[in-house]
Amino acid sequence: MCGIVGMVSSNQFSTLDVIAALKRLEYRGYDSVGIATSDGWVSKDVGEIDKFMDILEDRSANLAISHTRWATHGRVTKENAHPHASNDGSIIVVHNGIIENFEQMRAALRSKGYSFISQTDTEIIANYLEDKLRSGMGMQKAIRSFMKDAEGTFAILIIIKGEDTLYAAKRDSPLVLGILGDGFVLASDIYAFSDKTSKSIFFDDNEYAVITPRSYTFYVDSKEIEKQITEVQWTGISEKDEKYEHYMIKEIHEQPVAARRLIESMDTTQRSKMDLLARLCRQCKRVLFVAAGTSYHASLAGVYMFNSIGIEAHTLIASEFQNFMLVNEDALVIAISQSGETMDVVKAIKYAKDKGSKIVSIVNVPYSTVQRLSEVSVEILAGQEICVASTKTYTNQVLILICLANLLGFRTDIKSIPEMIGSTIESSEEKVMELSRSMSDTRDIYVIGRGISYPLSREVALKLKEISYIHAEGMMGGELKHGTIALIEEGTIVFSFIPNTDYEMLSNTQEVAARGAHVIMISDNPEFEPTFLLPPSVPGSFSVTATIIGQLFAYYIAKEKGLPIDKPRNLAKSVTVK
Ligand code: AGP
Repeated sequence: MCGIVGMVSSNQFSTLDVIAALKRLEYRGYDSVGIATSDGWVSKDVGEIDKFMDILEDRSANLAISHTRWATHGRVTKENAHPHASNDGSIIVVHNGIIENFEQMRAALRSKGYSFISQTDTEIIANYLEDKLRSGMGMQKAIRSFMKDAEGTFAILIIIKGEDTLYAAKRDSPLVLGILGDGFVLASDIYAFSDKTSKSIFFDDNEYAVITPRSYTFYVDSKEIEKQITEVQWTGISEKDEKYEHYMIKEIHEQPVAARRLIESMDTTQRSKMDLLARLCRQCKRVLFVAAGTSYHASLAGVYMFNSIGIEAHTLIASEFQNFMLVNEDALVIAISQSGETMDVVKAIKYAKDKGSKIVSIVNVPYSTVQRLSEVSVEILAGQEICVASTKTYTNQVLILICLANLLGFRTDIKSIPEMIGSTIESSEEKVMELSRSMSDTRDIYVIGRGISYPLSREVALKLKEISYIHAEGMMGGELKHGTIALIEEGTIVFSFIPNTDYEMLSNTQEVAARGAHVIMISDNPEFEPTFLLPPSVPGSFSVTATIIGQLFAYYIAKEKGLPIDKPRNLAKSVTVK
């Protein structure tokens, strides 16, 4: 996680400009923020960027580096905030990633007399480079030596105090260079400079670059390499809309439009990619989805649909993919990711590629690492999602899977779904708001589903956890009686998702109601007299419409509790560490 931005220019710019660019990466982490300029000036603090901007000195510079942190090593303190300087202040560094062998590296530096004021892995980078430079090495050689000695992941920006050259290096963590008229900007992703330039160069693993106000040179080891300039097409940049208090509710309301845009693209601009994906699904022996969090829940819906039409499909949480999945050349691996930068997913697909699998993906952020590692990548086209919790991207992920399943023999009227999404929001929002008022003290919620409604029960539970800070469990309705039902007491809230004529799910619901549970039933079957009656489903649509009720509950309960909805504690939108 963490976002980094560096700027180098032949004209002076303000430190405020750098932090404004960094603000666009705040979804990567918001524990602390900091900036350094090439004259050695460093300013940093804990908390969010807006708060930092109130105290930030408006200084002019030709070279600066900055960082927004999601803490990995060391607590959220000013000392642990980046940038980190070396002992004599000559080297200043910002870093995204994790140096896994930092303890050994730190011990080696300590034995040479270096001291450390933070608990971070990053501080060793600055001191390591200072040490090499003191020994007479040039900076490029020192960077190469670091890349050889360091284990783990990194995107690093380095300045030498008093010089006008910016150094950058990358392994696994994302890094991109933007070409400006009078200089360059380096960032964790292209959104940081979407208002400045569309000319980008993506770093590949184990590359480093030397950037001056007028030139850039990329290297692998000591060899200079040619890099391709990508002309980025900007789509779906999201701006604040005063009508909505939070991005989350804005993004929930954007779902009908985002769904329509996606469905249309799958018939037009994305048609050939969808056909190729369908062909690859038919040709392989089995489909393996890999994803994390919400994207994993969407993949579970895919497994349900694919298996129902005779296509063998499995899914596994990305961080366990290498441990529990048989991966070989018979498999087609479909990575699903909003950000396209989730490190667990990136690692899993690199592993699968090595094992001979074909890699394809479903990604929201264009030009992201997952997209660039894929043979074919379908775009989620939800537009930029700012709230840390995924809503509209989940819906569009499921819609892509429904469409893909349709091409393989599943039969549904996908075009009717956007309207169902709209009417679900319209008919339920007031009632959700009202019920949420009495749920702010709720400690536990059980969310149950079966078949197509099981994946969404997991997704709704995740939303309740991350946004409303309520312990929630998304479970298979049939599994409840095998243990968890012991926790159901008088008044325990159970969300029950019952699609069409699922009488087994109805029985599971009655089992908890008989033990005093307060059931909130969501169904498209009026016969069941649900708390929320959804529009009549078509195959697959329940995965989307029913989830929206859960999204709304998570939002309104959190609002009732006064929680930081768009930036919940301890989270970041893009999880770029293992
Ligand atoms: C979603 O609400 C979560 N914040 C999180 O689980 C997320 O889905 C997960 O980290 C995966 O991210 P990705 O889709 O960008 O790969």
